[in-house]
Amino acid sequence: MKKLVVATGNPGKIREMEEYLQKLNLELALKPPELEIEETGDTFLANARLKASQTALVVKKWSIADDSGLMVSALNGQPGIYSARYGKSDQDRIKRLLTELVNIDNRDAQFFCAIAIANPQGKIVIETEGICKGEILTEAKGESGFGYDPIFDLPSVKQTFAQMPSELKGQHSHRAIAFANLQPLLQALLNS
Ligand code: IMP
Repeated sequence: MKKLVVATGNPGKIREMEEYLQKLNLELALKPPELEIEETGDTFLANARLKASQTALVVKKWSIADDSGLMVSALNGQPGIYSARYGKSDQDRIKRLLTELVNIDNRDAQFFCAIAIANPQGKIVIETEGICKGEILTEAKGESGFGYDPIFDLPSVKQTFAQMPSELKGQHSHRAIAFANLQPLLQALLNS
């Protein structure tokens, strides 16, 4: 296995994965654009498995997928797997979340990322997870990043993800942790 098909249509996601996996000397490719996979799983891992496995079955090659989102303790883990669907735009989603948390003292939240790799027969052979714990602020701070970054504060750094330079976010983020966990497992698979 030297080539991995990424279960995404987003070239930005491939570039990010290439950075995380640069030590492995792997070629990453986008899934065929006509292949649309409905995320019907009820966990991040279930959705990552579904995307990796269906892509592998269609392209008959090793495939990788990730799935991520924000879980807020006071909202019983919502928006969770619905993070991307919580509103029409990043601004709407942030506004909705802040409204739901008005007068709520418990601001604990975590970003979660699941990754799955499937073999060309669609069987999941590796899965990893990464978690980044933080707090939801009462207002947005910072201009960088995307999604919920401006309201997600990392107490150890005293900055939101949107205030951090991307290298700093890349040291702490749920995705960075999930890919760090993936690296030795994928290396072992490549060596086998
Ligand atoms: P996906 O798994 O990359 O499709 O992410 C799903 C949704 O979770 C995104 O649309 C964002 O709303 C949210 N999300 C995931 N990762 C991040 C992050 O690092 N910062 C901010 N929002 C994120």
